[in-house]
Formats: sequence, structure tokens, C-alpha cells
Amino acid sequence: TVLSSVTSDGFLQCLSDNIPVGLIYTQGSSNFTDVLVSSVRNPRLFTSATVRPLCIVTPVDASHVQAAVRCGRASGVRLRVRSGGHDYEGLSYRSERPEVFGVVDLSNLRAITVSADDDERPVPPTAPSAWVDSGATLGELYYTVAKNNPELAFPAGICPTIGVGGHLSGGGIGMMMRRFGLSVDNVLDAKLVNASGDLVDRAAMGEDHFWAIRGGGGESFGVVVSWKVGLVKVPSTVTAFNIVKTVADQGAVDALTKWQDVAPGLPTDITIRVIIQGQRATFQSLYLGSCSDLVPVLNSSFPELGMTSADCLEMTWLESAAFFQFWNRRTPVEALLDRKTSLSTFTKNKSDYVRRAIAKEAWESIFSWLTMDGAGMIILEPHGGFIGTVPDGATPYPHRSGVLYNIQYITFWSAGGEQEGATATAWIGSFYEFMEQHVSESPREAYVNYRDLDIGENVVVDDVSTLDSGRVWGEKYFAGNFQRLAAVKGVVDPTDYFRNEQSIPPQSTAS
Ligand code: FDA
Repeated sequence: TVLSSVTSDGFLQCLSDNIPVGLIYTQGSSNFTDVLVSSVRNPRLFTSATVRPLCIVTPVDASHVQAAVRCGRASGVRLRVRSGGHDYEGLSYRSERPEVFGVVDLSNLRAITVSADDDERPVPPTAPSAWVDSGATLGELYYTVAKNNPELAFPAGICPTIGVGGHLSGGGIGMMMRRFGLSVDNVLDAKLVNASGDLVDRAAMGEDHFWAIRGGGGESFGVVVSWKVGLVKVPSTVTAFNIVKTVADQGAVDALTKWQDVAPGLPTDITIRVIIQGQRATFQSLYLGSCSDLVPVLNSSFPELGMTSADCLEMTWLESAAFFQFWNRRTPVEALLDRKTSLSTFTKNKSDYVRRAIAKEAWESIFSWLTMDGAGMIILEPHGGFIGTVPDGATPYPHRSGVLYNIQYITFWSAGGEQEGATATAWIGSFYEFMEQHVSESPREAYVNYRDLDIGENVVVDDVSTLDSGRVWGEKYFAGNFQRLAAVKGVVDPTDYFRNEQSIPPQSTAS
């Protein structure tokens, strides 16, 4: 149901009574669209048909987030929270169905404070921690941490413009997860505005609520304003490489087939992910050590790769963060601070997990999919190591023990190209169907941070998302943890105030 303008007026009035008006952009504001697109990463979700918010609030203090939630509750207007705007389905700033809602854009809340002392953590090795606001980007976090001390780092994803808020809400897979776990495995505390508008930390929200926000997906459990993260110790020199293998004459199929057995079992300080596009597989690696130690290990465990010291690029960990994004070791690390996103490319993404190595003949077929019209690319992220030792229920991310690797499917086309878009979308859909036989089943797993609305959307009945509709997509993202997430939601937000097309539905506490 669409709210009446009377309710919307009440909401806007409440906001302007409680938040400096300069931080509120209504549809009539001259810069409304500029602010709205400022962090849109996938303009496929931003067309003339997109359901836009009534207003955007850009808090500079947690009290403004609290005011927005209280005004929204009082007037029955929902809020969508945006940190970095990288949601693959744009759920942080648009609604799939007609709806009156406001956006709380956290991009002004991006302070990062590194503590001086070592933290007492069960996860080795202990290192200092940092408080990072949700509106900071991963690039800003990496830069600030490493400039403070080049032997400190944080394990998280590759694209530097990703927002900390959404990323940490969904997991955080990256080049150091085999050694240190996901980003969420390194979250120690958080400050969150709950459905009553109160600002609570870990102790005040309780362990169930704190468990849910570390990977249960954004939006569902309140607005996380700030996170306390455990930093990790890295050597002053790390080694990176990109080794390309073509199918025709460099043995890409053999190397990939072998990679599946090798990569998840390598020493945890070696990560080799694979990017496959066209008839080429790029083996991209980070080793937390120097070249001379890496070469013999890979030559004995993975001779098909043919790695030599000529492939090694030795650099600092911060430089490696820039290298994996820009594929050029000369790009200055300051490029990690650039928050600008481009509106030139539309994308559609999907994901899978592989628990049994895919046979060589099947890889030959997979490569033929990558030559078809509309073909994009796939990225394989090895698991195993530390990430596989964390129990499935320790955080909402269930893809742990027994997972060999994650697959991300990506297709892209130039903005607005309708025919191109139809071909690309058809390709990714059919390829995903073809892959069913090769990937995890019951449930077919998916990664919540690679948001995909094709796997299911909530149905809302009597103004509450139903548990049955949520289970369809929820068990793919969270497996056995879905039920616990729904139970937590039932306690912390029983009326389903914080919701979107794939938010956790509340399990009624009465039942
Ligand atoms: P955005 O602001 O769009 O939010 C995403 C979701 O979280 C929305 O539902 C939003 O409402 C909610 N949310 C945001 N801030 C919140 C807050 N403070 N409190 C509560 N809810 C909040 N992932 C990965 O693990 N490893 C990787 O290497 C990559 N690489 C990558 C590259 C590129 C180019 C893209 C576009 C995406 C990735 N990702 C990724 C996926 C990425 O982790 C995922 O899209 C994150 O949710 C993005 O977080 P943002 O804050 O940018 O998104």
C-alpha cells in the first residue's frame, strides 16, 4: 500500500525538526538526483522506472540515524540504509515495488580510529583493533590501517569502493580469508541503531543480535553505524602474481582441474583465485611472504601452473590491495581512496559454491559457455584454511567446512543497451541452469553479498514478510542458520520495520 501524502509530510516534518535540514534531500531538492546516484554502482537498477525514495538523509552523527528511525516508525515510513551503494540489486536505494521510503545514506559517517594496543582475541595472532564507521570504503580502511602501520591489515574484499556497512553485514570474502577468515570473523563489537531508535553496542544488543549482524545480510537487524574490527599482522613484503593460461595452448583446463584440489589445501598464507573470461584463465595470487619461499611450494604442489620467480611481484600489502583492483603495480595506493563510481556499465551477478571438484570434461564445456553471445566472466575464490575451521553456526555465513570454492558469475553490458542486456541476462540465466549439476545442492548455496533476486523474494502478508517466502532464498544464503536469523529478527524487529525484498522475515515469538 502506498502511504498518503499526509503521512509523508509528517515524516518529512519530523525529520526537519530533528536533523539539520542541510542533511535532508527531498525529491524537490535541486541536488536530489546527484546525491541519490552518488554511490550507485550498478545503474541497471537506476533507470527512469526505478522507484525512488521520498528523501535521502545523510547523517553526520549517530543521533541523526536515531532520529530518522524514530520519525520513520512514528509515521510508518520505512528506511533503506546505504553505506557504499554496491548492492548488486540496488536494494540500498530503490524498491522493487511501489513504496514510500526514505534512504539513510551513511557516506558522511566514515571515521576510522586505530587503537594503539593489542586486543585480547582468541583468533591468532593478536593485533590492534580499529573502530570504523559504516560509510567508510574498504579502500579507506585499508589505506588508513596500513599507513598507520604497514604490518597491519584487514581481511575483506577487493573492490575499494565497497562500503564497510554492507560488506560487513554480509560476510566479506577476500584474498586473506584462508589465513584470517572473513571480515565478519574479525568483528569484535558494533554500534547499531535498533528498531526502537536506540543506539546499542554489543553488550546492550546481546549476543544473538550481535551474531545476526555479522553476516545475516544488510537491512534486517537495524542500522549499524560503526564496527570494531580486529586488525591482522602481515609481513612487510608480500608477493602477488597474475599468471594467464589459455585453453588452446597453455593448458588452462588441466591447470583449473588441478587448482580445485590444490588451492583449498595450500598453506593458509597462499591464496590463488581464478578469473575466467573468454578462453583465458588468470590465476591471481597473494602470498603473505617473499617470492623465494613461494616458488618451491608452488612448484611441488602445483606444477601445472608453471610458476617461476619471474612471475613474482614483491610489494607491501597495501600495494597489493591496489594491484588486485587495478592490475597495475604502478597505480599509486592513493587510488584506493577514490570513491567515484562509474555509471557506464550494467551488471548482473549470481553465485554458487563447489564442494566436489568439477571434472576435466566439464571444464571444457564451461569454457564453451564463455564464448557464447552475452558471455561475461566467472571468478573462483578458494575456501579451506582458517575459514573452513570456523563452525558453520559461529556466524550466519554457512559455507565453511567442505567448501572448495565460491563461484561468482558476472555479465555486463554498456549502460542502456537493451538488446545487449537481454542477451547478457539470458546467458547468465542459462549458464546458471547448466551449472546446477556441478555445484552444491539441497540447498544450492549462494553468497548473500552477491545479491541475486532471481533466487527468491519476500512475500508480504498483513504488513509482515512471510517466513515461507524468506526460506526459499534464505536457506540458499544461510542454510541451517536461516532459522536462527528469523528467530532473532522476531525478537529484535517483530513488526518487520527494517525490510527489503530479501530481508530476514520475523519468526513470530508467539508460535
Ligand atoms: P550497499 O550500501 O548497497 O548495502 C548493501 C546492503 O546492506 C543493502 O541491503 C543495505 O540496505 C544494507 N546496508 C548497508 N549499510 C548498512 C548498515 N550500515 N547497516 C545495516 N545494513 C546496511 N564482496 C565480497 O565479499 N568480496 C569481494 O571481493 C567483493 N567484490 C565486489 C566488487 C564489486 C565491483 C561489487 C559491486 C561488489 C563486490 N562485493 C564483494 C559485494 C559487496 O560485498 C556487497 O555488495 C556489499 O553488500 C556492498 O556493501 P555496500 O555498503 O557498498 O552496499
